[in-house]
Amino acid sequence: MDLGLSGRVFVVTGGSAGLGLATARALAAEGARTVISSRDKEKVDRAVAELSPLSPTVGTVADLADPGTPGRLLELAGEVYGRVDGALISVGGPSPGTAASADDDQWRAAFESVFLGAVRCSRTVAAHLAKGGGGGAIGLVLSSSARSPITGLGISNGLRPGLAMVAKDLADEYGPRGVRVLGLLPGRIATDRTAALDRARPEARERALAGIPLGRYGEPEEFGRVAAFLLSPAASYITGTSVPIDGGALRTP
Ligand SMILES: NC(=O)c1ccc[n+]([C@@H]2O[C@H](COP(=O)([O-])OP(=O)(O)OC[C@H]3O[C@@H](n4cnc5c(N)ncnc54)[C@H](OP(=O)(O)O)[C@@H]3O)[C@@H](O)[C@H]2O)c1
Repeated sequence: MDLGLSGRVFVVTGGSAGLGLATARALAAEGARTVISSRDKEKVDRAVAELSPLSPTVGTVADLADPGTPGRLLELAGEVYGRVDGALISVGGPSPGTAASADDDQWRAAFESVFLGAVRCSRTVAAHLAKGGGGGAIGLVLSSSARSPITGLGISNGLRPGLAMVAKDLADEYGPRGVRVLGLLPGRIATDRTAALDRARPEARERALAGIPLGRYGEPEEFGRVAAFLLSPAASYITGTSVPIDGGALRTP
C-alpha cells in the first residue's frame, strides 16, 4: 500500500526522542520531509543527523510551552519546504505521583506544556492547514490515561481525557475544511520516559506487563508506524477519534 506520504511535510514536536522521533523516522522512511523540534539543541542535532539520510529534515530548538512555538515551526516549514501537510504533537510527559500529591507548581507546569502547549499548537496548525486549502492531519500524542487512569500518573489522568476531547472538538470544526485531528494513545512503549518511570517504581513495570495481553512493552517503531499511517492520506477517512497503541492493555474495546 502506498501511504501517499512522499514529498509531504510534517512538523513533529518532541521530535528529538521517544515517540516523536519514532514517528519522524517512520514518516522519513516513507519519503515525507519533517521539521522536528524539542528544547535541547544537542538532542535536536542528533535526531536531524539520524533522519537526514532518509529524507530532508530540519530541526529547531523550541519549547511547546512557549506561545511563539507553533508559529515559528510553521514559518520554518514554509521557508524550507514551501508547504505543510500536518503535525505530530508530542511533548515530555508530566511528573509522576498521584493527583492528590502533585502540588500547584507541578499542575501548572504540566498544564502549560502538556495541555495548553498541545491545544495551542494543534489549533494553530489546524487553522494554517485550513487556510492553505489543501487540508492535512494532526496527531496528538496522548496516553491510554485518556480512557482509563494509570496508577501513579495523576496529572496525566487529569489532563489527557481533556486533550482527547479537544482533538474531537477540533476535528468537528475543521473536518469540513479537510483537516483531520486524532489522538494517539500509547500504553507502554519502551522509550527513555518509560525507562525513567520504571526506574522510579520497579513494581509498576511488573504490574503493567501483567496487564498487557501481548505480554511486552511496545517498541517505538511500532508506535511510529501507526502514527505515520494515521497522518497519511491513506487514512483519509479517520478523524475525531483516539487510537490505542497498547498491546491490548486498555479495558475498553
Ligand atoms: N512512552 C510511552 O509508553 C508513553 C505512554 C503514555 C504516554 N506517553 C506520552 O507520550 C509523550 C512522549 O513520550 P516519550 O516516551 O516519547 O517521552 P521521551 O522519550 O521523554 O521524549 C520526549 C520528547 O519530547 C521533548 N520534550 C520534552 N518536553 C518538551 C517541551 N516542553 N517542548 C518541546 N519538546 C519537549 C524531549 O526533548 P527535549 O528534552 O529536548 O525537550 C523529547 O524529544 C509524553 O507526553 C508521554 O507522557 C508516552
